[in-house]
Amino acid sequence: MIRAAITAVGGFLPENILTNFDLEKMIDTTDEWITTRTGIKERHVENDPQKATSDMAVEAVKNLCKKRGIAPEEIDLLICGTVTPDMVFPSTSNLICAKLGAVNAWGYDVSAACSGFIYSLATGAQFIETGRYKKVVIVGADMMSRIIDYSDRTTCVIFGDGAGAVLLEPSSDDSLGIRDFVLHADGRGMTHLHMKAGGSLRPASEETVANKMHYVYQEGQPVFKHAVVNMAEVSAKIMERNHLTSEDVTWLAAHQANKRIIDATAQRMGIGSEKVMMNIERYGNTTAGTIPLLLWDYEKQLKKGDNLILSAFGGGFTWGSIYIKWAYDGNAI
Ligand code: UT7
Repeated sequence: MIRAAITAVGGFLPENILTNFDLEKMIDTTDEWITTRTGIKERHVENDPQKATSDMAVEAVKNLCKKRGIAPEEIDLLICGTVTPDMVFPSTSNLICAKLGAVNAWGYDVSAACSGFIYSLATGAQFIETGRYKKVVIVGADMMSRIIDYSDRTTCVIFGDGAGAVLLEPSSDDSLGIRDFVLHADGRGMTHLHMKAGGSLRPASEETVANKMHYVYQEGQPVFKHAVVNMAEVSAKIMERNHLTSEDVTWLAAHQANKRIIDATAQRMGIGSEKVMMNIERYGNTTAGTIPLLLWDYEKQLKKGDNLILSAFGGGFTWGSIYIKWAYDGNAI
């Protein structure tokens, strides 16, 4: 069979950094509370009002094209996982392609919150596996600062802005690449994590703005409980399905929402902290951006044949895991 392999990774973070100490001056919180409850020390926040999610994504994709030595014109398809599209329509994917000059690509957005990247990656891989396309770009990008209420201490401390992207190509060795995925959704979870207005149910009005209904609404505790159980379960499930022991797993790349959720997942998988990719302390929760940004940060340490488990849980609820046998050593294929 033709397998889809990641052949390059790109990332981008806005320059401006918002630390826990900055937040102490804005709301009733402490660096100590945020660090012990979440593992986050700082996050990047775009402060240029002219910039949007597509601008971060464009930088991440340019980074990836440069590494792989390809031109944007060579991209066949670009899928963007995001819940902070530049606008309701057209899709952010279309805007990214236009800004990049990816004139031969088509694309679309995937709305799956924090699972947006893994949903998009599983979807994009299908177009390679069928033999239809040769170069598919998968983006995970979110400018969460644009939908966060910075007076709500229960949500504003965890989120940040960022974008990551990977290139998928047919693997010359069919043992390498995306080997399996397990994805789930349960719309009943929406009550605990959603945006109340701005869609067809409650279009923007003076009332929705006055009632702060265009911000992320999150009930932290129930989301936390579901995330711990489901991310751990699905990660164990994909290992079992692929006959992987904890020794076989080289890396866990788990959605960076809360260090305590990631630790619980690693524990359920029976793997030590040395195998757990972590950058939550510097970036916070960038929603669809977290997993590609982990791959970007850890790319130099990855080796051909490494077994990676990618796992996420997010709004929807949506969750899942992907098993990848990594296709190259270090920084480039
Ligand atoms: O990314 C997609 C999915 N999202 C997630 O996975 C997030 C899951 N949830 C979480 O990570 C955690 O629930 C949070 C980090 C959001 C909150 O942590 P928690 O340990 O669940 O705190 P809590 O909401 O139970 O609040 C505990 C206490 C409360 O005070 P009282 O009622 O016990 O007096 C809160 O008011 O902590 C208080 N609190 C804070 N104190 C200082 C809540 N936020 C803050 C804060 N600083 N920022």
